Amino acid sequence: MKCQVKEGPIAQEATDVLVVSGYEDENTLSKTHQALDNALGGQLQELRNNGEFSGKNQQSVLIHTRGALPAKRVLWLGLGKKNSVTLDGVRQAMGTAFKKVWQTGAQTFSAPVFGTDALTASASDIAQVMVEGALLGRYRFTHYRSDKEEPSKEIRTMTLLANRANEVSRIKTGVRRGEASANATSFARDLCNHPANVMTPSRVVQEAQNIAKKALRVTLTVLERKDQQKLGMGGMLGVSRGSQEPPKFIVLEYSGGKKQERPVVLVGKTVTFDSGGISLKPSENMEQMKADMTGGAEVLGAVRAAAQLRLPINVVGILPATENMPGGRATKPGDILRMLNGKTVEVQNTDAEGRLILADGLAYAAQLNPQCIVDIATLTGACIVALGQFAIGMLGNDDALKADLSKAGEQAGERVWEMPLWEEYFEQLKSDVADMRNIGGRGGGMITAGMFLSKFVGDCPWVHLDIASTDWSTSERPYISKGPTAIGTRLLVQWLINRSGKRALLNSPNQGK
Ligand code: BES
Ligand code: MN
Ligand code: ZN
Repeated sequence: MKCQVKEGPIAQEATDVLVVSGYEDENTLSKTHQALDNALGGQLQELRNNGEFSGKNQQSVLIHTRGALPAKRVLWLGLGKKNSVTLDGVRQAMGTAFKKVWQTGAQTFSAPVFGTDALTASASDIAQVMVEGALLGRYRFTHYRSDKEEPSKEIRTMTLLANRANEVSRIKTGVRRGEASANATSFARDLCNHPANVMTPSRVVQEAQNIAKKALRVTLTVLERKDQQKLGMGGMLGVSRGSQEPPKFIVLEYSGGKKQERPVVLVGKTVTFDSGGISLKPSENMEQMKADMTGGAEVLGAVRAAAQLRLPINVVGILPATENMPGGRATKPGDILRMLNGKTVEVQNTDAEGRLILADGLAYAAQLNPQCIVDIATLTGACIVALGQFAIGMLGNDDALKADLSKAGEQAGERVWEMPLWEEYFEQLKSDVADMRNIGGRGGGMITAGMFLSKFVGDCPWVHLDIASTDWSTSERPYISKGPTAIGTRLLVQWLINRSGKRALLNSPNQGK
């Protein structure tokens, strides 16, 4: 679907469906709606009066205009109460609206930028979330289905209408950002949806190669097993021992900033299947462990989006990629590994594998002398217990960085919640035979995992995001399909956009057209 922007009054817009919004606590029609209502012979007011249109978030009514307007249909869409509309509320309303429009068989739809009178956000930010809601509401994974169960017609164009000519370029910026972040999210969802017999570490390398081939200023380096041996990546080597699939340590670099500018580094856990290894998992829901590479898929998506938006920053994406399998040569409980930074780890549970490969990923990242490191991982079942479906766990050693990620999460509708990273917790990770062990006992599992990771970043500003549980939705939501959610992708993209600051606006393509 193409997303475009133009200036023009809604009552004159020729399109298959015109989507207009309304609030829950609004009884009289606004000026612009009044014009539509006049053309429609008072239908809008009538729908309001008899309660058919309530304005509740995501509630909608479809009206056929039968020639009364250039638009063939009007979809009246609720945004909820005017004083409690949020950006994510707009994203959700748009996700629902998109599905409604799609069901009608329409090929085009148009909408003004919603909520400019209710939100403090800029037209650019609102345009961004509208595009995200629509594109992600469209997301389906039908790759392996013979019956695609889809509306047969695709929507070709979404048009955002600007009130004033001087708003067009700002709205275009928002649209481009929305496209980049939604496409990055869909890309990451696809990688997670593909089964583990397809999405192997080698296939993840191919996906990274594709990005490097298509995007400007992106280069790929892959460290093979022998390179990992040379460097001493004990975590990578230890976790991959039980698998027939060769482990890949993937480094995807985007250089949009100045040459001498230190990079920001993103590290994503990329376990293409987590069986638990010798500490085998129970079989119930084990199929969901094909998505244990969500962090890595998101890092690829975020680097791709940064390149697409030509953000003026240097970003390095690191994906330690492997399977975690039992096998004759697999790592056994009690085995000791020496990690890239020289520290030794006693593996007491082979199912705590994420932190082992991340240890090498983070140590490698720290060697790049970066501005900061952010890692993202489906790391602990304890995160599921502590925070459930709606919050990403956050731990880190730098308050400013945590605040930035928290803000980006808020903007992206992917909120984080901080957990304490207090040195006291390291007690639980002490080993009798090595520098530390890879499990921390019963209490505070998300925290001890974060504590473990902290020993591999040196004194670099760093934040860890635990997306276990939020990475998988058990139900269909307005712009989140059932299954892999790729939560964190939009957060990372938004954080990179924010970090690029005003320079991003100047450098982006098509600006001012
Ligand atoms: N990938 C899992 C965590 C996970 C579980 C993510 C469920 C998403 C849904 C991770 O590798 C794991 O197995 N963690 C163990 C660690 C434990 C052995 C210390 C866990 O949390 O059970
Ligand atoms: Mn595991
Ligand atoms: Zn895992």
